[in-house]
Parts: sequence; C-alpha cells; structure tokens
Amino acid sequence: MTTTITICDTCKLEGWDAEKQAQSDGELLAALIETAATEVENVITRRHSCLMGCNHGCNIAIQSHDKLTYVMGSFEPDAQQAAGIVEYASLHADSEKGQVPYRQWPKAIKGHFVSRIPTLPQTDSSE
Ligand code: FES
Repeated sequence: MTTTITICDTCKLEGWDAEKQAQSDGELLAALIETAATEVENVITRRHSCLMGCNHGCNIAIQSHDKLTYVMGSFEPDAQQAAGIVEYASLHADSEKGQVPYRQWPKAIKGHFVSRIPTLPQTDSSE
C-alpha cells in the first residue's frame, strides 16, 4: 500500500519576503520532497494550499487508507529534512496500521509531530 505525503505549498517562514523570494518556503520544501520521493515506490506526493497550521510551517501530512494520519510542522526547505520525511512515509507505508516504531524514526522528523488522527471506523453504506 502507498502512503501519500501532502505538502502545504503556501507555507512561509518568518521573514519571508515576497519581493525577494519567488517561491514560498512550502513550494521549496515540496520540490525537495518530490525529488526525494522519485525513486521510492511506496510513497506518492501531492501539494495542497494551506493545511491551516500557518503559525508552525512548513507543514505536511502523512496519510494512507485505513492507517493513522500524522500531521507534522516546523520544517524548513532543507534536503535532509525532506529525505527524512520521505523515509518516514515509506516506513508508514510498510506498517500495518501506520505506527512506525520510535527506534525507526528518522532524526529529521523527531520533534515535528503536530497531531495524530485515527482512522474512521468502517461503515456499512446499506444501513
Ligand atoms: S500556509 Fe501552510 S498551513 Fe497555512
């Protein structure tokens, strides 16, 4: 099963200057994550404008069907952080329910968790 990394492409870190910077910090981080994920078969990426965590950007979410969702923030557009995010997403994809043992967490994602969202219960649409 694949895991999706949703990357906010409108996050701007403190001091971001529209006159000096052509791209938002979120766009820069998204490009780095997309590059890092190119060769990773069980991870896909998508961009989304604003995940509503603007005061602790850059923000991403790690999601897959029937697994725990994780929202993370306070990233910078940095290749090492991007690689750690992709590594964590690949471990999430390999896990049964989305829980990755702490000992396997890449250093780059430690301290960046914002929230964990449980899966929705299965519902019978015929009821
Ligand atoms: S602009 Fe990125 S969370 Fe709002």
